[in-house]
Amino acid sequence: MRSALPLLTVTLTLGLATTLGSVGARAADAVAPAKIGIIGTGKIGSTLARAWVKAGHDVFVSSDHPEKLQALVAELAPHAQAGTPRQAAAFGSVILVSIPYRAMPQIGMELRAELAGKVILDTSNPVERRDGAMALDAQKKGAGVATAQLLHSKRVVRAFNCIGAPSLASDGFRKPAQLAIPIGGDDALALKVAERLIREIGFDPVVIGSLARTRVFDLGEPLAGGGLTAAEMRGKAAQVTAQ
Ligand SMILES: NC(=O)c1ccc[n+]([C@@H]2O[C@H](COP(=O)([O-])OP(=O)(O)OC[C@H]3O[C@@H](n4cnc5c(N)ncnc54)[C@H](OP(=O)(O)O)[C@@H]3O)[C@@H](O)[C@H]2O)c1
Repeated sequence: MRSALPLLTVTLTLGLATTLGSVGARAADAVAPAKIGIIGTGKIGSTLARAWVKAGHDVFVSSDHPEKLQALVAELAPHAQAGTPRQAAAFGSVILVSIPYRAMPQIGMELRAELAGKVILDTSNPVERRDGAMALDAQKKGAGVATAQLLHSKRVVRAFNCIGAPSLASDGFRKPAQLAIPIGGDDALALKVAERLIREIGFDPVVIGSLARTRVFDLGEPLAGGGLTAAEMRGKAAQVTAQ
């Protein structure tokens, strides 16, 4: 059942950030469902689509073969529609990018106009065995910095890259303590949007720092382990900083 609470807590920013800038920030208590475009509707993208619809938002899921997504759209009706990645990018004021990393350059080139100025949540991990040599470049820069460059965006937030899809699907609102999701980015408004969208699906966002700093939770790095509460995550982040 869709929860009423998120409709009270979703901000401004979800709908207005891209156009209103600091005015949007003042509207942080506005009541509005977000329009979320999802590029990459696989294990992570479809899990988040379900969670965000349940939280009161509208999603546009996408694929190069959108007919494959009809069952998901039917499940989430009337709050989901499906189409191409370009349509999803045009629809959303918030965009989830959750794709094999090797597709990132193409998305950045082809959808540059549609993505301009929008809040982008990036779950995508560069993995050499799947994505080839370009993954090594991204790992060297840090995935957050690499994504921002490839998508030509200053509003990228790294999020959900180090929680497995099964946990994302089943651990929301965990008791007695919710699971932490480490996030980071360079745009304060984008971070606020991400924090709200994470809270609303029952996880605790922990802002680790800038996009450059998000390398501490790139795969294989100290904060990527998962399974931590927010307090544990903050403690571990402080240790990593101190080293
Ligand atoms: N699975 C996990 O537990 C997990 C956890 C954290 C992070 N991640 C990371 O998150 C990303 C997504 O993971 P996933 O497991 O959800 O992957 P997945 O199940 O393989 O789904 C990836 C989706 O990306 C789409 N895609 C592929 N190439 C594309 C392109 N050029 N343009 C647009 N869409 C494209 C595919 O859709 P179509 O082929 O239908 O277009 C597919 O549905 C990966 O980078 C992964 O490393 C995964």
